[in-house]
Amino acid sequence: METKAFIFDLDGVIVFTDKFHYQAWKKMADGMGIYFDETINNRLRGVSRMDSLEIILERYEGEPLSRSEKEALAEEKNASYRELLATMTPADVTDEVRAALKELRDRGYKLAIGSSSKNARFILEKVELLDAFDAISDGNNITNSKPDPEVFLKAAEYLGEKPEECIVVEDAYAGVDAAKAGGMRAAAIGDAASYEKADYKLDVFEDLLKIGL
Ligand code: BG6
Ligand code: MG
Repeated sequence: METKAFIFDLDGVIVFTDKFHYQAWKKMADGMGIYFDETINNRLRGVSRMDSLEIILERYEGEPLSRSEKEALAEEKNASYRELLATMTPADVTDEVRAALKELRDRGYKLAIGSSSKNARFILEKVELLDAFDAISDGNNITNSKPDPEVFLKAAEYLGEKPEECIVVEDAYAGVDAAKAGGMRAAAIGDAASYEKADYKLDVFEDLLKIGL
């Protein structure tokens, strides 16, 4: 099958913001007396902000919270998260990742971001990678989050390519499921690399260059 484009998840593939999500959620959870640890944080990978909050609230033992109280908590977490994101610099993206993105483009592939995050553009700006992509599909242009394929289908549409001609690069199980549900191939890295639904397994980001020949 011909490959015309690569669609990249952002958090955990291009940049490593897990630790910032963890710190920001931990601050919120501690403030409410909710138990939260790194194992629970791993369940938030690829999941939208509000769905992440619901996972954390599984351990909440207080009175039921209203929709607006939940939105305020998510907002509070996002404010601390953005303070941490603001400290990011171009050094937060490895030379290997930058070089591989450039090489794929030089080979004629279109590149897009397909991220659940509403902070995707802010992050790409901080690490100076906005120009590396032809399109950005993120948490601001979707109503259903991964494992729903919407974010990747939108990315393919923005690129003007057919889903079956796109390869999605993901570190989350939910992201691999989303790619497959959208009729795309999935290259898995990190946490998702051992997932049997992935079409390609990447030990390192540059392994993509072997696929994109
Ligand atoms: C994904 C992360 O990329 O974005 C999730 O893997 C996160 O952990 C989600 O919850 C939403 O991010 P944001 O920046 O919109 O809160
Ligand atoms: Mg991810």
